[in-house]
Amino acid sequence: MTLALKPLHPVFVAEASGIDLTSPLSRGDACAINAAMNEFGVLVWRGQPLTAEQQIQFSTAFGPLDIGLKRVFKRPERLGDERLIDISNLGMDGNVQKRDAPKNLSNFANQLWHSDSSFMTPRGAYSMLHALVLPSWGGETEFADLRAAYDTLDLRTREMVAGLKAEHYALHTRILLGDDAYTDEQKKAMPPAIWPLVDTHPGSGRMVLFVGVHARQIIGMSTAESRLLLSDLLEHATRRERVYVHKWQVGDLVMWDNRATVHRGRRFDLSERRELRRTTVNDTPDAMLAVA
Ligand code: OGA
Ligand code: MN
Repeated sequence: MTLALKPLHPVFVAEASGIDLTSPLSRGDACAINAAMNEFGVLVWRGQPLTAEQQIQFSTAFGPLDIGLKRVFKRPERLGDERLIDISNLGMDGNVQKRDAPKNLSNFANQLWHSDSSFMTPRGAYSMLHALVLPSWGGETEFADLRAAYDTLDLRTREMVAGLKAEHYALHTRILLGDDAYTDEQKKAMPPAIWPLVDTHPGSGRMVLFVGVHARQIIGMSTAESRLLLSDLLEHATRRERVYVHKWQVGDLVMWDNRATVHRGRRFDLSERRELRRTTVNDTPDAMLAVA
């Protein structure tokens, strides 16, 4: 079958079907998916019962897999393969953690608008998130399009942000959430990444307003002014009319382009099990997604 696309939102996001993601992808299918990603920024696949291995295999078609903060913080992980990111509220024993457990800190950080791994070089390109077990209430994931955010900036702000660069720091969201007991060594282990605030999206050639909560400072601007401007821009980017809310079903795979969108998780009942699995592809020039 061939890729079929049904738009789910006025400016981005499509439901994709017609390709079985559990089997190895042909190059033609990978190119078609890539072209759809460049256009829509987020693709929603329903009813894809992927194993961990199949998810890794599917993701690898789009570039080398990112291991994010695991590069620096060696902590015991529930999922055996370091390329799998455990988006769950479960501990090593597979049981739901207490609500104040450290594992939930990543869940809380994921509830702030962000782009995966924007604090690293290379940053994340595509992320694929697959739903295994869902709570009975809440836990949606919301997405906003950073190209639409740029397109709708007023001219004065557009002129103001042109040429600015922002520093994205791995621990910034943790520190915002009150988790600041890091040693100097840990703080330095992951130097910030610097990205233009206004950039060209490599896949579509469109302009993007590259904001998100990992950005903590604009180069050459005071911290106070930087943070106000960054929070204003993020608020603009995530106005409700530009947001798609994904209500999960078991077996969904949602795939997004971190270079063109931001996302956040929503609250859910932390005493219920929520189990998803993520893979993320690095934004490297040799990734196949560089091929138009
Ligand atoms: C992620 C993420 C949000 C959620 O997996 O990168 O931010 O809803 N997830 O779990
Ligand atoms: Mn994320």
